[in-house]
Amino acid sequence: MIDPSLKRLLQGLRPDAGLVVLTGAGISRESGLHTFRDADGIWAQVRLEEVATPQAFARDPTRVQGFYNARRRAVLDPAVQPNAAHDALVRLEREWRGPFLLVTQNVDDLHDRAGSQKLLHMHGELLKICCAACTRIDRFDGDLATDAICPDCGARGTLRPHIVWFGEMPLFMEEIGEALSGAGLFLSIGTSGTVYPAAGFTAEARSNGAITLEINMEETGGRFDGGLYGPATQTVPSLVEFLLKEVQ
Ligand code: APR
Repeated sequence: MIDPSLKRLLQGLRPDAGLVVLTGAGISRESGLHTFRDADGIWAQVRLEEVATPQAFARDPTRVQGFYNARRRAVLDPAVQPNAAHDALVRLEREWRGPFLLVTQNVDDLHDRAGSQKLLHMHGELLKICCAACTRIDRFDGDLATDAICPDCGARGTLRPHIVWFGEMPLFMEEIGEALSGAGLFLSIGTSGTVYPAAGFTAEARSNGAITLEINMEETGGRFDGGLYGPATQTVPSLVEFLLKEVQ
């Protein structure tokens, strides 16, 4: 699966190079969760302006809470489990000799359940809620009502999903910038590369001298040094095996 041109590209990589991995909804697709922009994606079912902005929440909190309650229940479905791509990234984190960071745009907990530790959820997490009054963030796996009472400060109606909505600042940007500045290899897995600032990470990594690879079902049109195309449950384990056996 790793073609000769990709092998040549990677064989120049230092075994102790910094490695940054960015994942998107495509890595969770084979676990049974919808992506956003595929034909059967979430944004083909509902307009993001109606459920994924602070304005939507202010306008119709019941609609927004209902949207995230349904996605939270979907993630908690016993049939939804980490897949071979999530597991391969855990192996890569454990065995890679250089610095490693996994940045995910995903709000599901599949990387967490697979065992990823060096993991940053830059768009928040479905299984957490935060209080607009006291800013506490707590784990939460039920349905959130619009008049729920904050368990920490007692305020009513201030609890919201711990999700970064469009127009809000993604999380952990400083840590991500530091990791990208030292990266020798940047892997972009299962993301359309359409939403900034994540979509800008490839260029940032390249400007720091990193090799950049796209792992997807198809080319997204982004500028990468190389790519590996097919279902993530096949491409990611193959790439991890190559990196650990041939590069390290
Ligand atoms: N294996 C690998 N890639 C896949 C697979 C698969 N089995 N299935 C789909 N993909 C790819 C698609 O080709 C597409 O490029 O995953 C990508 C999913 O793209 P999007 O649906 O746009 O999801 P993502 O890139 O994560 O969206 C980024 O946009 O709506 C916001 O906050 C939301 O975090 C999300 C952000």
